[in-house]
Amino acid sequence: MVTDRLEDLHEIESAVWRELEAAPARREHGWRVGVLATTDGTMGDARSVVLRDVDTGARTLIVYADSRSPKAAQIQAFPQGTLVLWSAELSWQLRLRVMLGLETTGLAVSSRWARLKMTPGAQDYLSPLPPGTPVARPAPERGSREHFALLTARIAAIDWLELHADGHRRAMFDERGPQWLAP
Ligand SMILES: Cc1cc2nc3c(=O)[nH]c(=O)nc-3n(C[C@H](O)[C@H](O)[C@H](O)COP(=O)(O)O)c2cc1C
Repeated sequence: MVTDRLEDLHEIESAVWRELEAAPARREHGWRVGVLATTDGTMGDARSVVLRDVDTGARTLIVYADSRSPKAAQIQAFPQGTLVLWSAELSWQLRLRVMLGLETTGLAVSSRWARLKMTPGAQDYLSPLPPGTPVARPAPERGSREHFALLTARIAAIDWLELHADGHRRAMFDERGPQWLAP
């Protein structure tokens, strides 16, 4: 947890990554659930997602998804997205410009599925019906085939906004280096 108001942009950037790394394992961390915005080329779309893992070295976040979901199709056609995270505890918003990818095979997918399939969370990826299919009633159905996929989000730019009674602050962290912005 960051308590003092950091002044140095490099320290703020490091703190952002520390908080991102901590978020998946802390249920109460505001950044564990965010809103992922994508496009189908005509309309914007957005939905809540859970942050499952953060690879700071690769600047990549991992989210789980059903490979048949509309977001999966959107991402394959239009990989540019934005992930918005808000932590009331930190008073920090992140707008992450991300390059999205979908992995349905490979070791990263199979090792995570091996762990997940023993848990109630596995049900989310076992439905016989693709997400969004019209149904007569909301009865959960369980199929046998998994549709588990990893959604990867490589961070291209971090737009950081801090809300504060003494004045809000905003900064951009991208390939040009850290830069203060008018909030
Ligand atoms: C708190 C919360 C967390 C969610 N986390 C995920 C998630 O990690 N992955 C996911 O695919 N859907 C998640 N959902 C469901 C999505 O928001 C969405 O309803 C669903 O994935 C269908 O999205 P799509 O039609 O854009 O593919 C979550 C919903 C809520 C309310």
